[in-house]
Amino acid sequence: MTGYFMLKGKKILLGITGSIAAYKTAILVRNLIKAGAEVRIIMTPSAIEFVAPLTLSTLSKNEVLYTIAEQGSWANHVMLGRWANLMVIAPLTCNTLAKMSNGICDNLLMAVYLSATCPVVVAPAMDEDMWLHPSTSFNLNKIQSYGNHLIPVEHGELASGLIGPGRMAEPEKIVDWIDLFFKKSDQLAGKKVLITAGPTYESIDPVRFISNHSTGKMGIALANECIQRGAAVTLICGPITIPIPDKVKHIPVVTAAEMYESSMLEFENADIAVLSAAVADYTVKNPAEYKIKKTESCLTLELEKTRDILKSLGERKKENQLLIGFALETNNEEANATSKLISKNADYIILNSMNDKGAGFGKDTNKITIFAKNGNAISFETKSKSEVANDIIDTILKNN
Ligand code: CTP
Repeated sequence: MTGYFMLKGKKILLGITGSIAAYKTAILVRNLIKAGAEVRIIMTPSAIEFVAPLTLSTLSKNEVLYTIAEQGSWANHVMLGRWANLMVIAPLTCNTLAKMSNGICDNLLMAVYLSATCPVVVAPAMDEDMWLHPSTSFNLNKIQSYGNHLIPVEHGELASGLIGPGRMAEPEKIVDWIDLFFKKSDQLAGKKVLITAGPTYESIDPVRFISNHSTGKMGIALANECIQRGAAVTLICGPITIPIPDKVKHIPVVTAAEMYESSMLEFENADIAVLSAAVADYTVKNPAEYKIKKTESCLTLELEKTRDILKSLGERKKENQLLIGFALETNNEEANATSKLISKNADYIILNSMNDKGAGFGKDTNKITIFAKNGNAISFETKSKSEVANDIIDTILKNN
């Protein structure tokens, strides 16, 4: 426990919900206390079926709360959320996840969560089929868009006997995550980060457009990562359907031209710009005023080049500004990425190849190589997009 320097004196509010993984919270509490944290615990009524409040109050050296009112006195949920430096909900069941997603307040834990002003992190635990249900990923995306953080589930033996994803992260991993969270939290304090994300739409006529398959997931993961590290984030984003984090300054755009205009304006005040958007390289020269009718057997569209945002920012870049671009390639990946690094005057180019199974549009994972101006190149394994965002920001911080 000697390695956890950041936990000393930190106030951790632990919310426990009704999953078999709740038994592991005894070790989690013990480890947090050993690392020097102060721990207060709230349980849902069903969590107390899995682990005794007496065990947890003994380990945390604090009374464990699980009802809003007890013997005529009221548990002050507002005070608890303000007291904590971090609220950790572990294990997080499907049920509490759905309540968090919808703001349902039917127990003390939910009252504290909904009134908490501190950051919140969740460590889900559920069986494989529940984990893979579309409502689970929908709700997880939604609560992350509110600014909540996620400690990913592990793959392994589940309570049902099945082997698969859904196990709560081990207590040691949760403590590691919390320690790193505090370590990272002010690394970008005072910095302004500009991120472009998503696709652009280029109109053909009033009902049709040219676009691409970008979903904006990588850009949103980057925005969350920078917020977590204390940056003020501006997100210039094409049309996407995934939720936008609450804490960003969101500038919605549709066309490549709109994204260009907003990027030029916002770059003036940015310390770091990360251009993850899939900007259309060509737009329709003369979009039709009315819907094009299918009278002709062949239709020709005249396209003209859009302005290259990354290149233009590279030309304006001041010495104290960092510029990071992406390169999505299907062939000659390395050569194309390095030539973009030079031609666009970027400090880093993040290469992802459509040939890698875990990379590309719409996926929850990505596989990247980071090319730096100084000639260094670092390749990473396939990881979740939030882990990839972490690797990108870590690399920049290490080198600058
Ligand atoms: N980009 C941009 N403005 C454009 C086109 C691309 O800012 N009009 C940015 C992207 O956001 C990305 C980088 O440039 O950060 C590389 O984009 P990519 O599509 O891989 O390359 P292109 O420069 O468009 O070149 P090509 O399509 O020929 O590979």
